[in-house]
Amino acid sequence: MKIGTPKELFDGESRVAMTPASALELQKLGHDCVIETKAGDAAGFSDKSYKDAGVEVVKTAAALWKAADVIAKVRVPDEGEMKRLRADQTLISFFSPVADDDKMKSAAKKGATVVAMEMIPRISRAQKMDALSSMANIAGYRAVIEAGNHFPRFFTGQITAAGKVPPAKVLVVGAGVAGLAAIGTATSLGAITYAFDVRPEVAEQVESMGAQFVFLDFDEDQKDGSETGGYAAVSSPEFAAAQLAKFREIAPDMDIVITTALIPNRAAPELWTEDMVKAMKPGSVIVDLAAEKGGNCKLTVMDEKIVTENGVTIIGYTDFPSRMAAQSSTLYATNVRHLLTDLTPDKDGKINHNMEDDVIRGATIAHASAVTFPPPPPKIQAIAAKPKAPVVELTPEQKRANEVAAFKAQTKSQVILLSVGALLLLAVGLVAPASFMQHFIVFVLAVFVGFQVIWGVAHSLHTPLMAVTNAISSIIILGALMQIGSGSFIVVVLAALAVFMTGINIFGGFLVTRRMLAMFQKS
Ligand code: NAI
Repeated sequence: MKIGTPKELFDGESRVAMTPASALELQKLGHDCVIETKAGDAAGFSDKSYKDAGVEVVKTAAALWKAADVIAKVRVPDEGEMKRLRADQTLISFFSPVADDDKMKSAAKKGATVVAMEMIPRISRAQKMDALSSMANIAGYRAVIEAGNHFPRFFTGQITAAGKVPPAKVLVVGAGVAGLAAIGTATSLGAITYAFDVRPEVAEQVESMGAQFVFLDFDEDQKDGSETGGYAAVSSPEFAAAQLAKFREIAPDMDIVITTALIPNRAAPELWTEDMVKAMKPGSVIVDLAAEKGGNCKLTVMDEKIVTENGVTIIGYTDFPSRMAAQSSTLYATNVRHLLTDLTPDKDGKINHNMEDDVIRGATIAHASAVTFPPPPPKIQAIAAKPKAPVVELTPEQKRANEVAAFKAQTKSQVILLSVGALLLLAVGLVAPASFMQHFIVFVLAVFVGFQVIWGVAHSLHTPLMAVTNAISSIIILGALMQIGSGSFIVVVLAALAVFMTGINIFGGFLVTRRMLAMFQKS
Protein backbone atom coordinates (compact mmCIF):
# COMPACT_ATOMS: atom_id res chain seq x y z
CA MET A 1 0.00 0.00 0.00
CA LYS A 2 1.12 3.56 -0.62
CA ILE A 3 0.80 5.78 2.45
CA GLY A 4 0.63 9.47 1.56
CA THR A 5 0.75 12.64 3.64
CA PRO A 6 -0.34 16.00 2.23
CA LYS A 7 0.70 19.42 3.53
CA GLU A 8 -1.78 20.61 6.15
CA LEU A 9 -4.02 23.40 4.84
CA PHE A 10 -5.55 24.62 8.13
CA ASP A 11 -4.37 28.15 8.89
CA GLY A 12 -1.44 28.07 11.35
CA GLU A 13 -1.20 24.26 11.47
CA SER A 14 2.46 23.28 11.59
CA ARG A 15 2.16 19.56 12.30
CA VAL A 16 2.66 16.79 9.76
CA ALA A 17 1.34 13.23 9.98
CA MET A 18 4.46 11.46 8.69
CA THR A 19 8.05 12.01 9.81
CA PRO A 20 11.17 10.53 8.22
CA ALA A 21 11.45 8.19 11.23
CA SER A 22 7.82 7.00 10.99
CA ALA A 23 8.26 6.54 7.20
CA LEU A 24 11.18 4.17 7.84
CA GLU A 25 8.97 2.12 10.19
CA LEU A 26 6.09 2.12 7.68
CA GLN A 27 8.42 0.78 5.00
CA LYS A 28 9.37 -2.07 7.33
CA LEU A 29 5.66 -3.00 7.34
CA GLY A 30 5.87 -3.38 3.56
CA HIS A 31 4.33 0.00 2.67
CA ASP A 32 5.64 2.68 0.28
CA CYS A 33 5.57 6.28 1.47
CA VAL A 34 4.84 9.46 -0.43
CA ILE A 35 4.68 13.05 0.82
CA GLU A 36 3.74 16.41 -0.66
CA THR A 37 6.66 18.79 -1.06
CA LYS A 38 7.21 21.11 1.97
CA ALA A 39 4.64 19.18 4.04
CA GLY A 40 7.14 18.80 6.90
CA ASP A 41 8.84 22.22 6.61
CA ALA A 42 6.90 23.92 9.44
CA ALA A 43 7.66 21.01 11.77
CA GLY A 44 11.36 21.05 10.87
CA PHE A 45 11.42 18.04 8.51
CA SER A 46 12.86 18.97 5.08
CA ASP A 47 12.05 17.30 1.77
CA LYS A 48 15.65 16.04 1.77
CA SER A 49 15.19 14.29 5.13
CA TYR A 50 12.16 12.48 3.69
CA LYS A 51 14.03 11.56 0.49
CA ASP A 52 16.91 10.22 2.61
CA ALA A 53 14.37 8.04 4.45
CA GLY A 54 13.19 6.56 1.13
CA VAL A 55 10.02 8.67 0.83
CA GLU A 56 8.83 9.80 -2.60
CA VAL A 57 8.28 13.59 -2.61
CA VAL A 58 5.58 14.82 -5.03
CA LYS A 59 5.04 18.40 -6.15
CA THR A 60 1.30 18.89 -5.70
CA ALA A 61 -1.52 17.89 -3.37
CA ALA A 62 -3.44 16.54 -6.39
CA ALA A 63 -0.57 14.18 -7.26
CA LEU A 64 -0.33 13.08 -3.63
CA TRP A 65 -4.04 12.26 -3.24
CA LYS A 66 -3.95 10.44 -6.60
CA ALA A 67 -0.90 8.33 -5.74
CA ALA A 68 -1.79 7.23 -2.22
CA ASP A 69 -3.98 4.31 -1.12
CA VAL A 70 -3.97 5.56 2.45
CA ILE A 71 -3.95 9.26 3.35
CA ALA A 72 -2.55 10.10 6.78
CA LYS A 73 -3.08 13.68 7.89
CA VAL A 74 -3.62 15.76 11.03
CA ARG A 75 -6.64 18.04 10.54
CA VAL A 76 -10.01 17.04 9.19
CA PRO A 77 -9.91 17.47 5.35
CA ASP A 78 -11.35 20.71 3.95
CA GLU A 79 -13.98 20.71 1.18
CA GLY A 80 -11.34 20.62 -1.57
CA GLU A 81 -9.60 17.63 0.01
CA MET A 82 -12.92 15.85 0.52
CA LYS A 83 -13.46 16.10 -3.26
CA ARG A 84 -10.12 14.38 -3.79
CA LEU A 85 -10.98 11.48 -1.45
CA ARG A 86 -11.68 8.38 -3.58
CA ALA A 87 -13.73 5.22 -3.11
CA ASP A 88 -11.45 2.43 -1.81
CA GLN A 89 -9.09 5.03 -0.26
CA THR A 90 -8.50 5.01 3.51
CA LEU A 91 -8.22 8.31 5.36
CA ILE A 92 -6.56 8.45 8.79
CA SER A 93 -7.01 11.84 10.44
CA PHE A 94 -8.50 13.80 13.32
CA PHE A 95 -12.14 13.86 12.22
CA SER A 96 -14.86 14.83 14.67
CA PRO A 97 -17.82 12.65 13.63
CA VAL A 98 -20.31 14.98 15.34
CA ALA A 99 -19.02 18.36 14.15
CA ASP A 100 -18.01 17.02 10.72
CA ASP A 101 -21.09 14.90 10.23
CA ASP A 102 -21.58 16.04 6.58
CA LYS A 103 -18.04 15.12 5.61
CA MET A 104 -18.37 11.73 7.32
CA LYS A 105 -21.55 10.97 5.37
CA SER A 106 -20.04 12.12 2.09
CA ALA A 107 -16.97 9.89 2.65
CA ALA A 108 -19.22 6.90 3.38
CA LYS A 109 -21.31 7.62 0.27
CA LYS A 110 -18.16 7.59 -1.85
CA GLY A 111 -17.15 4.20 -0.40
CA ALA A 112 -14.03 5.55 1.32
CA THR A 113 -12.90 4.34 4.76
CA VAL A 114 -12.34 6.97 7.45
CA VAL A 115 -10.45 6.27 10.67
CA ALA A 116 -10.90 9.15 13.14
CA MET A 117 -7.90 9.49 15.45
CA GLU A 118 -9.94 11.05 18.29
CA MET A 119 -12.18 7.98 18.32
CA ILE A 120 -9.39 5.56 19.32
CA PRO A 121 -10.89 3.89 22.42
CA ARG A 122 -9.19 4.58 25.75
CA ILE A 123 -8.17 0.99 26.45
CA SER A 124 -4.69 -0.16 27.47
CA ARG A 125 -3.94 -1.88 24.15
CA ALA A 126 -4.73 1.30 22.23
CA GLN A 127 -2.54 3.66 24.27
CA LYS A 128 0.19 3.63 21.61
CA MET A 129 -2.33 4.97 19.07
CA ASP A 130 -4.03 7.44 21.42
CA ALA A 131 -3.35 10.69 19.57
CA LEU A 132 -5.70 12.70 21.83
CA SER A 133 -3.51 11.81 24.82
CA SER A 134 -0.29 12.52 22.91
CA MET A 135 -1.56 15.96 21.98
CA ALA A 136 -3.10 16.70 25.42
CA ASN A 137 0.24 15.80 27.04
CA ILE A 138 1.97 18.42 24.90
CA ALA A 139 -0.82 20.95 25.54
CA GLY A 140 -0.50 20.52 29.32
CA TYR A 141 3.26 21.03 29.19
CA ARG A 142 3.02 23.99 26.83
CA ALA A 143 0.26 25.62 28.91
CA VAL A 144 2.69 25.93 31.84
CA ILE A 145 5.51 27.20 29.60
CA GLU A 146 3.12 29.75 28.04
CA ALA A 147 1.93 30.82 31.52
CA GLY A 148 5.58 31.21 32.60
CA ASN A 149 6.19 33.40 29.56
CA HIS A 150 3.60 35.90 30.82
CA PHE A 151 4.07 35.46 34.57
CA PRO A 152 6.36 38.19 35.94
CA ARG A 153 7.97 36.05 38.68
CA PHE A 154 9.92 32.82 39.22
CA PHE A 155 8.03 29.55 39.63
CA THR A 156 10.37 28.36 42.33
CA GLY A 157 10.87 30.14 45.65
CA GLN A 158 14.35 31.57 46.23
CA ILE A 159 16.29 33.17 49.03
CA THR A 160 18.91 35.43 47.49
CA ALA A 161 21.13 38.24 48.71
CA ALA A 162 18.68 40.59 47.01
CA GLY A 163 15.70 39.25 48.94
CA LYS A 164 13.28 36.40 49.39
CA VAL A 165 11.11 35.27 46.47
CA PRO A 166 7.97 33.27 47.26
CA PRO A 167 7.18 30.26 45.03
CA ALA A 168 4.37 30.61 42.49
CA LYS A 169 1.09 28.90 43.35
CA VAL A 170 -0.42 27.01 40.43
CA LEU A 171 -3.93 25.55 40.36
CA VAL A 172 -4.75 22.92 37.73
CA VAL A 173 -8.47 22.32 37.23
CA GLY A 174 -9.15 18.94 35.60
CA ALA A 175 -6.54 16.23 36.09
CA GLY A 176 -6.88 14.32 32.81
CA VAL A 177 -3.92 13.83 30.48
CA ALA A 178 -3.37 17.57 29.91
CA GLY A 179 -3.91 18.38 33.59
CA LEU A 180 -1.43 15.77 34.81
CA ALA A 181 1.17 16.97 32.28
CA ALA A 182 0.63 20.54 33.53
CA ILE A 183 1.00 19.40 37.16
CA GLY A 184 4.25 17.56 36.33
CA THR A 185 5.69 20.58 34.52
CA ALA A 186 4.66 23.17 37.14
CA THR A 187 5.95 21.02 39.99
CA SER A 188 9.26 20.37 38.28
CA LEU A 189 9.70 24.13 37.78
CA GLY A 190 9.38 24.50 41.54
CA ALA A 191 5.83 25.87 41.88
CA ILE A 192 3.49 24.87 44.69
CA THR A 193 0.84 23.06 42.69
CA TYR A 194 -2.78 22.36 43.59
CA ALA A 195 -5.22 20.36 41.49
CA PHE A 196 -8.90 19.59 41.43
CA ASP A 197 -10.96 17.06 39.50
CA VAL A 198 -14.49 15.76 39.85
CA ARG A 199 -13.26 12.17 39.48
CA PRO A 200 -12.26 11.12 43.00
CA GLU A 201 -9.90 8.37 41.82
CA VAL A 202 -7.37 10.87 40.41
CA ALA A 203 -6.53 12.35 43.85
CA GLU A 204 -3.85 9.68 44.29
CA GLN A 205 -2.32 10.39 40.84
CA VAL A 206 -2.30 14.11 41.58
CA GLU A 207 -0.54 13.59 44.91
CA SER A 208 1.96 11.14 43.43
CA MET A 209 3.01 13.92 41.02
CA GLY A 210 3.80 16.26 43.87
CA ALA A 211 0.64 18.40 43.82
CA GLN A 212 -1.95 18.83 46.57
CA PHE A 213 -5.48 17.72 45.77
CA VAL A 214 -8.11 20.33 46.61
CA PHE A 215 -10.78 18.45 48.53
CA LEU A 216 -14.32 19.79 48.78
CA ASP A 217 -16.28 19.71 51.99
CA PHE A 218 -19.10 17.94 50.18
CA ASP A 219 -20.42 14.41 50.25
CA GLU A 220 -21.50 13.24 46.81
CA ASP A 221 -21.11 9.77 45.37
CA GLN A 222 -19.16 10.89 42.29
CA LYS A 223 -18.95 8.27 39.56
CA ASP A 224 -15.44 6.92 39.10
CA GLY A 225 -14.16 6.85 35.52
CA SER A 226 -14.88 3.14 35.08
CA GLU A 227 -18.56 3.85 34.55
CA THR A 228 -17.94 6.49 31.91
CA GLY A 229 -15.05 5.11 29.87
CA GLY A 230 -12.42 7.00 31.89
CA TYR A 231 -14.20 10.36 31.48
CA ALA A 232 -16.05 12.50 34.02
CA ALA A 233 -19.82 12.49 34.46
CA VAL A 234 -21.87 15.66 34.89
CA SER A 235 -21.87 16.81 38.55
CA SER A 236 -25.02 17.67 40.50
CA PRO A 237 -25.87 21.41 40.83
CA GLU A 238 -25.05 21.21 44.57
CA PHE A 239 -21.61 19.71 43.87
CA ALA A 240 -20.93 22.32 41.17
CA ALA A 241 -21.91 25.09 43.64
CA ALA A 242 -19.57 23.67 46.31
CA GLN A 243 -16.79 23.50 43.71
CA LEU A 244 -17.27 27.15 42.72
CA ALA A 245 -17.36 28.20 46.39
CA LYS A 246 -14.00 26.47 46.94
CA PHE A 247 -12.48 28.10 43.85
CA ARG A 248 -13.80 31.50 45.01
CA GLU A 249 -12.08 30.95 48.37
CA ILE A 250 -8.68 30.08 46.88
CA ALA A 251 -8.70 32.40 43.81
CA PRO A 252 -6.96 35.38 45.53
CA ASP A 253 -4.09 33.10 46.55
CA MET A 254 -3.42 31.55 43.11
CA ASP A 255 -0.82 33.01 40.72
CA ILE A 256 -1.46 30.71 37.76
CA VAL A 257 -4.62 28.78 36.91
CA ILE A 258 -4.63 26.15 34.18
CA THR A 259 -8.07 24.84 33.31
CA THR A 260 -8.52 21.61 31.35
CA ALA A 261 -11.98 20.47 32.53
CA LEU A 262 -13.98 18.71 29.89
CA ILE A 263 -16.78 16.19 29.52
CA PRO A 264 -16.81 14.64 26.03
CA ASN A 265 -19.46 15.89 23.59
CA ARG A 266 -20.46 18.79 25.86
CA ALA A 267 -19.54 22.44 26.10
CA ALA A 268 -16.77 23.04 28.63
CA PRO A 269 -18.18 23.69 32.14
CA GLU A 270 -17.76 27.29 33.34
CA LEU A 271 -15.61 26.97 36.45
CA TRP A 272 -13.61 30.19 36.71
CA THR A 273 -16.07 33.06 36.91
CA GLU A 274 -15.59 36.80 36.37
CA ASP A 275 -15.46 37.55 40.11
CA MET A 276 -12.73 34.92 40.57
CA VAL A 277 -10.66 36.62 37.85
CA LYS A 278 -11.24 39.97 39.56
CA ALA A 279 -10.10 38.50 42.89
CA MET A 280 -6.74 37.41 41.45
CA LYS A 281 -3.58 39.48 41.92
CA PRO A 282 -2.21 41.62 39.04
CA GLY A 283 0.32 39.61 37.00
CA SER A 284 -1.58 36.35 37.51
CA VAL A 285 -2.12 34.15 34.46
CA ILE A 286 -4.98 31.88 33.41
CA VAL A 287 -4.45 29.36 30.60
CA ASP A 288 -7.75 27.92 29.41
CA LEU A 289 -7.10 24.69 27.54
CA ALA A 290 -10.82 24.16 27.07
CA ALA A 291 -11.09 27.38 24.98
CA GLU A 292 -12.09 25.45 21.85
CA LYS A 293 -15.15 24.02 23.64
CA GLY A 294 -16.25 27.43 25.02
CA GLY A 295 -13.68 27.73 27.80
CA ASN A 296 -13.69 26.95 31.52
CA CYS A 297 -13.08 30.62 32.29
CA LYS A 298 -15.93 33.06 31.66
CA LEU A 299 -13.61 35.70 30.14
CA THR A 300 -11.59 33.45 27.79
CA VAL A 301 -11.48 34.56 24.16
CA MET A 302 -10.72 31.64 21.85
CA ASP A 303 -7.32 31.83 20.10
CA GLU A 304 -6.49 35.10 21.85
CA LYS A 305 -4.51 36.41 24.79
CA ILE A 306 -6.24 39.16 26.74
CA VAL A 307 -5.23 41.18 29.79
CA THR A 308 -8.04 42.19 32.15
CA GLU A 309 -8.36 45.58 33.84
CA ASN A 310 -6.91 44.17 37.05
CA GLY A 311 -3.86 42.87 35.16
CA VAL A 312 -4.71 39.16 34.81
CA THR A 313 -3.58 37.56 31.53
CA ILE A 314 -6.03 35.03 30.07
CA ILE A 315 -4.73 32.77 27.31
CA GLY A 316 -7.23 30.93 25.10
CA TYR A 317 -4.96 29.51 22.40
CA THR A 318 -6.16 26.29 20.82
CA ASP A 319 -2.98 25.37 18.96
CA PHE A 320 -0.58 24.37 21.71
CA PRO A 321 0.50 21.09 20.04
CA SER A 322 1.14 22.98 16.80
CA ARG A 323 3.37 25.42 18.72
CA MET A 324 5.66 22.43 19.37
CA ALA A 325 5.29 20.98 15.89
CA ALA A 326 8.43 18.82 15.78
CA GLN A 327 7.51 17.08 19.04
CA SER A 328 3.80 16.74 18.31
CA SER A 329 4.39 15.53 14.73
CA THR A 330 6.80 12.90 16.03
CA LEU A 331 4.25 11.60 18.56
CA TYR A 332 1.28 11.84 16.16
CA ALA A 333 3.18 10.10 13.33
CA THR A 334 4.09 7.33 15.79
CA ASN A 335 0.42 6.97 16.80
CA VAL A 336 -0.52 6.69 13.08
CA ARG A 337 2.28 4.19 12.47
CA HIS A 338 1.04 1.98 15.34
CA LEU A 339 -2.48 2.12 13.90
CA LEU A 340 -1.15 1.06 10.50
CA THR A 341 0.73 -1.79 12.19
CA ASP A 342 -2.60 -3.05 13.54
CA LEU A 343 -4.24 -2.51 10.14
CA THR A 344 -1.46 -4.56 8.47
CA PRO A 345 -1.31 -7.71 10.64
CA ASP A 346 0.28 -9.87 7.90
CA LYS A 347 3.27 -7.57 7.24
CA ASP A 348 2.76 -8.00 3.48
CA GLY A 349 1.89 -4.34 2.97
CA LYS A 350 -1.82 -5.17 2.55
CA ILE A 351 -4.40 -3.55 4.80
CA ASN A 352 -6.84 -5.85 6.56
CA HIS A 353 -9.55 -3.60 7.99
CA ASN A 354 -10.77 -5.94 10.73
CA MET A 355 -14.07 -4.56 12.07
CA GLU A 356 -14.05 -7.25 14.80
CA ASP A 357 -11.03 -5.54 16.39
CA ASP A 358 -12.19 -3.25 19.23
CA VAL A 359 -9.71 -0.47 18.43
CA ILE A 360 -10.17 -0.46 14.65
CA ARG A 361 -13.95 -0.74 14.97
CA GLY A 362 -14.08 2.04 17.57
CA ALA A 363 -12.12 4.51 15.45
CA THR A 364 -13.70 3.71 12.05
CA ILE A 365 -16.52 6.13 11.25
CA ALA A 366 -17.06 5.26 7.56
CA HIS A 367 -16.45 1.91 5.91
CA ALA A 368 -17.82 -0.23 3.07
CA SER A 369 -20.16 2.59 1.90
CA ALA A 370 -21.77 2.96 5.34
CA VAL A 371 -21.48 5.36 8.24
CA THR A 372 -20.13 3.28 11.13
CA PHE A 373 -20.46 5.91 13.87
CA PRO A 374 -21.25 5.61 16.74
CA PRO A 375 -19.39 2.35 17.40
CA PRO A 376 -20.69 -0.24 19.86
CA PRO A 377 -19.09 0.04 23.34
CA PRO A 378 -15.68 -1.70 23.45
CA LYS A 379 -15.72 -5.28 24.79
CA ILE A 380 -12.97 -4.30 27.25
CA GLN A 381 -13.71 -1.38 29.57
CA ALA A 382 -11.23 1.51 29.68
CA ILE A 383 -10.82 1.19 33.44
CA ALA A 384 -11.85 -1.98 35.24
CA ALA A 385 -14.92 -1.26 37.33
CA LYS A 386 -14.28 -1.51 41.04
CA PRO A 387 -16.56 -4.11 42.64
CA LYS A 388 -18.91 -2.20 44.86
CA ALA A 389 -19.31 -3.93 48.21
CA PRO A 390 -22.50 -2.98 50.03
CA VAL A 391 -21.55 -0.55 52.82
CA VAL A 392 -23.04 -1.70 56.14
CA GLU A 393 -22.75 0.75 59.02
CA LEU A 394 -21.80 -1.13 62.26
CA THR A 395 -22.67 0.02 65.79
CA PRO A 396 -19.69 0.58 68.18
CA GLU A 397 -20.67 -2.63 70.10
CA GLN A 398 -20.68 -4.68 66.87
CA LYS A 399 -17.28 -3.23 65.87
CA ARG A 400 -15.85 -4.13 69.33
CA ALA A 401 -17.32 -7.67 69.15
CA ASN A 402 -15.78 -8.12 65.65
CA GLU A 403 -12.36 -6.95 66.90
CA VAL A 404 -12.47 -9.34 69.89
CA ALA A 405 -13.51 -12.27 67.65
CA ALA A 406 -10.67 -11.47 65.17
CA PHE A 407 -8.13 -11.27 68.05
CA LYS A 408 -9.31 -14.60 69.50
CA ALA A 409 -9.11 -16.33 66.10
CA GLN A 410 -5.58 -14.94 65.52
CA THR A 411 -4.38 -15.99 69.02
CA LYS A 412 -5.86 -19.48 68.57
CA SER A 413 -4.05 -20.06 65.27
CA GLN A 414 -0.76 -18.77 66.74
CA VAL A 415 -1.07 -21.08 69.80
CA ILE A 416 -1.74 -24.10 67.53
CA LEU A 417 1.24 -23.19 65.33
CA LEU A 418 3.59 -22.77 68.29
CA SER A 419 2.41 -26.05 69.92
CA VAL A 420 2.98 -27.98 66.68
CA GLY A 421 6.43 -26.37 66.35
CA ALA A 422 7.35 -27.25 69.97
CA LEU A 423 6.19 -30.86 69.53
CA LEU A 424 8.21 -31.20 66.32
CA LEU A 425 11.31 -29.80 68.05
CA LEU A 426 10.80 -32.27 70.92
CA ALA A 427 10.48 -35.17 68.48
CA VAL A 428 13.65 -34.15 66.61
CA GLY A 429 15.43 -33.62 69.97
CA LEU A 430 14.66 -37.23 71.01
CA VAL A 431 16.46 -38.72 68.01
CA ALA A 432 19.10 -36.13 67.05
CA PRO A 433 22.45 -35.56 68.83
CA ALA A 434 22.75 -32.54 71.19
CA SER A 435 25.24 -30.67 68.91
CA PHE A 436 22.76 -30.85 66.02
CA MET A 437 19.91 -29.62 68.23
CA GLN A 438 21.90 -26.55 69.27
CA HIS A 439 22.31 -25.47 65.63
CA PHE A 440 18.82 -26.52 64.73
CA ILE A 441 17.21 -24.35 67.44
CA VAL A 442 19.29 -21.33 66.31
CA PHE A 443 18.12 -22.05 62.75
CA VAL A 444 14.43 -22.27 63.73
CA LEU A 445 14.67 -19.07 65.78
CA ALA A 446 16.43 -17.27 62.88
CA VAL A 447 13.64 -18.32 60.49
CA PHE A 448 11.00 -17.15 63.00
CA VAL A 449 12.63 -13.74 63.67
CA GLY A 450 13.36 -13.16 59.94
CA PHE A 451 9.76 -13.95 59.05
CA GLN A 452 8.38 -11.61 61.71
CA VAL A 453 10.71 -8.75 60.62
CA ILE A 454 9.88 -8.99 56.89
CA TRP A 455 6.16 -9.69 57.36
CA GLY A 456 5.63 -6.41 59.22
CA VAL A 457 7.14 -4.29 56.42
CA ALA A 458 5.00 -2.68 53.69
CA HIS A 459 5.41 -4.48 50.35
CA SER A 460 6.56 -1.33 48.58
CA LEU A 461 9.60 -1.20 50.88
CA HIS A 462 10.59 -4.81 50.43
CA THR A 463 13.26 -4.46 47.76
CA PRO A 464 15.26 -1.57 49.29
CA LEU A 465 14.91 -3.18 52.71
CA MET A 466 15.92 -6.58 51.35
CA ALA A 467 19.26 -5.24 50.15
CA VAL A 468 20.24 -4.46 53.71
CA THR A 469 18.58 -7.39 55.48
CA ASN A 470 19.99 -9.71 52.82
CA ALA A 471 23.43 -8.44 53.58
CA ILE A 472 22.88 -8.84 57.35
CA SER A 473 21.41 -12.32 56.97
CA SER A 474 24.44 -13.19 54.89
CA ILE A 475 26.42 -13.50 58.09
CA ILE A 476 25.99 -17.14 57.02
CA ILE A 477 29.04 -16.51 54.84
CA LEU A 478 31.21 -16.38 57.97
CA GLY A 479 29.95 -19.75 59.19
CA ALA A 480 30.50 -21.23 55.74
CA LEU A 481 34.06 -19.88 55.52
CA MET A 482 34.85 -21.38 58.94
CA GLN A 483 33.59 -24.76 57.77
CA ILE A 484 35.47 -24.78 54.46
CA GLY A 485 38.64 -26.06 56.11
CA SER A 486 36.85 -28.79 58.06
CA GLY A 487 38.24 -31.66 55.94
CA SER A 488 34.98 -33.48 55.27
CA PHE A 489 34.21 -33.43 51.53
CA ILE A 490 30.45 -32.99 52.00
CA VAL A 491 30.93 -30.12 54.46
CA VAL A 492 33.35 -28.38 52.06
CA VAL A 493 30.86 -28.74 49.17
CA LEU A 494 27.98 -27.47 51.33
CA ALA A 495 30.08 -24.56 52.64
CA ALA A 496 31.14 -23.60 49.09
CA LEU A 497 27.50 -23.75 48.02
CA ALA A 498 26.53 -21.55 50.97
CA VAL A 499 29.23 -18.97 50.04
CA PHE A 500 27.98 -18.97 46.43
CA MET A 501 24.29 -18.59 47.36
CA THR A 502 25.04 -15.94 49.98
CA GLY A 503 27.10 -14.04 47.41
CA ILE A 504 24.06 -13.95 45.11
CA ASN A 505 21.97 -12.82 48.05
CA ILE A 506 24.27 -9.92 48.96
CA PHE A 507 25.26 -8.63 45.51
CA GLY A 508 21.89 -9.40 43.89
CA GLY A 509 20.08 -7.41 46.59
CA PHE A 510 22.30 -4.36 46.14
CA LEU A 511 22.13 -4.60 42.31
CA VAL A 512 18.31 -4.64 42.35
CA THR A 513 18.21 -1.71 44.76
CA ARG A 514 20.67 0.20 42.58
CA ARG A 515 18.45 -0.33 39.54
CA MET A 516 15.40 0.80 41.49
CA LEU A 517 17.10 3.94 42.72
CA ALA A 518 18.38 4.71 39.19
CA MET A 519 14.75 4.81 38.03
CA PHE A 520 14.16 7.79 40.32
CA GLN A 521 17.35 9.63 39.38
CA LYS A 522 17.28 12.43 36.83
CA SER A 523 20.00 11.84 34.24
P1 NAI B 1 -9.52 14.52 29.63
O1 NAI B 1 -10.90 14.16 29.28
O2 NAI B 1 -8.47 13.46 29.78
O3 NAI B 1 -9.49 15.42 30.94
C1 NAI B 1 -10.47 16.32 31.29
C2 NAI B 1 -10.53 16.29 32.82
O4 NAI B 1 -11.45 17.26 33.27
C3 NAI B 1 -11.02 14.95 33.33
O5 NAI B 1 -10.09 14.46 34.26
C4 NAI B 1 -12.35 15.28 33.98
O6 NAI B 1 -12.61 14.46 35.09
C5 NAI B 1 -12.14 16.71 34.37
N1 NAI B 1 -13.38 17.43 34.61
C6 NAI B 1 -14.54 17.37 33.94
N2 NAI B 1 -15.43 18.20 34.48
C7 NAI B 1 -14.82 18.82 35.52
C8 NAI B 1 -15.22 19.78 36.47
N3 NAI B 1 -16.44 20.31 36.47
N4 NAI B 1 -14.32 20.17 37.40
C9 NAI B 1 -13.08 19.67 37.44
N5 NAI B 1 -12.64 18.76 36.56
C10 NAI B 1 -13.51 18.33 35.62
O7 NAI B 1 -9.04 15.57 28.57
P2 NAI B 1 -7.55 15.91 28.19
O8 NAI B 1 -7.15 15.00 27.09
O9 NAI B 1 -6.71 16.01 29.41
O10 NAI B 1 -7.74 17.36 27.58
C11 NAI B 1 -8.08 18.42 28.47
C12 NAI B 1 -8.51 19.64 27.67
O11 NAI B 1 -7.44 20.16 26.91
C13 NAI B 1 -9.64 19.37 26.71
O12 NAI B 1 -10.55 20.45 26.79
C14 NAI B 1 -8.95 19.35 25.37
O13 NAI B 1 -9.84 19.68 24.32
C15 NAI B 1 -7.92 20.42 25.60
N6 NAI B 1 -6.82 20.44 24.70
C16 NAI B 1 -6.47 21.71 24.26
C17 NAI B 1 -5.44 21.88 23.40
C18 NAI B 1 -5.08 23.27 23.02
O14 NAI B 1 -4.20 23.46 22.20
N7 NAI B 1 -5.70 24.27 23.61
C19 NAI B 1 -4.71 20.70 22.84
C20 NAI B 1 -5.10 19.41 23.42
C21 NAI B 1 -6.14 19.32 24.31
